[in-house]
Amino acid sequence: MLLIQALSVLPTLLTISALPQHQKAFEIKHELRLIQTSDSAPPQWVPEDEIVKMQTKGIKFMDITEFPDLGKINSKRYTIAKTKFPEHLNYQKEVNTAIANISTEYMEENLRAFIGFNTRYYKSSTGQQSGEWLFELVKATCIGNPNISVTQFHHSWRQHSIIAKIPGSKSESIVIVGAHQDSANLFFPGHKAAPGADDDASGTVTILEALRALVSVGFQPEKTVEFHWYSAEEAGLLGSQAVFSKYERKNKDVVAFLQQDMTGYIQKTLESGKSESVGVITDFVHKGLTDFIKTIITEYCMVPFVETKCGYACSDHASASKAGYPSAFVIESDFKDSNPNIHTIGDTIDKLSFDHMKEHTKLTIGFVVELSHI
Ligand SMILES: *[C@@H]1O[C@H](CO)[C@@H](O)[C@H](O)[C@H]1NC(C)=O
Ligand SMILES: *[C@@H]1O[C@H](CO)[C@@H](O)[C@H](O)[C@H]1NC(C)=O
Repeated sequence: MLLIQALSVLPTLLTISALPQHQKAFEIKHELRLIQTSDSAPPQWVPEDEIVKMQTKGIKFMDITEFPDLGKINSKRYTIAKTKFPEHLNYQKEVNTAIANISTEYMEENLRAFIGFNTRYYKSSTGQQSGEWLFELVKATCIGNPNISVTQFHHSWRQHSIIAKIPGSKSESIVIVGAHQDSANLFFPGHKAAPGADDDASGTVTILEALRALVSVGFQPEKTVEFHWYSAEEAGLLGSQAVFSKYERKNKDVVAFLQQDMTGYIQKTLESGKSESVGVITDFVHKGLTDFIKTIITEYCMVPFVETKCGYACSDHASASKAGYPSAFVIESDFKDSNPNIHTIGDTIDKLSFDHMKEHTKLTIGFVVELSHI
């Protein structure tokens, strides 16, 4: 989740003005960045320290400094609104075989190790190390299938993104699922601890477990399937913009993209007397693909969906959309019941439900298998 939501915990934290000058200045330069805060307003050049203030005020944005042309090349963007997705599901047996292979023990083990890095901030040394660690884990996960390639996507900053690609037997069109691997502390992005257990270690292991289960059962897609772990989501969707600007330039045919950012927190939902559900985001997404996701949840999950909204550029699906690709986003709950501890040292593993994350893994497998057939 983009650095926006921790406002609810503001009163319990030190305010920025209460801190010593040397801490305020840490890693925050006065370099200008090109910032976009809506589709209608033109982007603006903003100093980096002002951006941190914007974040603490809850303003959502894309930092388009490196990728000002994203979305200006792909002529398909004028027709994607018309892209059709299946109304009926046809691969229940294949999906359920992979679902039966999901292990919440693996998810917990992986998440626990991943949040062991002090911060996964994209410009930090531990963020670089967590990226290397995740890369090795994804490679080990795919070892059973030599057709799968796992690559690092390098950026102009330290932490790379990761792409696992299962080539389609019949098509180079691509079905993609994504999560972001970086974390950040709202007030001292590169400095203070940011375990990011929910945001977004949960999504990271959710899609990793889907990949592991699929590899275990010998999944062979007809279309190409990719799993992406983005760097620098918290800094304005930088990693996903880099990936999708390359895909757009190479004219890659991405038929569907699904982002999972925060998949494990249900405490607030339960405390407010509501039933556990999967939040399906309905703003800034592809309508037909989103309807298809609802069908997937109804078929393969034990909990229902709830429609919810999260605003402009709230996670990496916004980069895929901007590049002209149909994209969707699912989150742990109704957005207003989502985890209030993100971007603080309080985003810890004890607040997460691995059973709920498993529901997100099930829908990931359903999404991938159903769309991977011609
Ligand atoms: C997943 O499937 C593989 C291959 O059939 C099997 O060896 C493994 O025990 C299964 N794992 C789980 C958690 O069911
Ligand atoms: C690798 O791809 C080839 C060609 O599609 C296929 O015949 C083979 O079974 C695949 N191997 C695995 C382990 O999926």
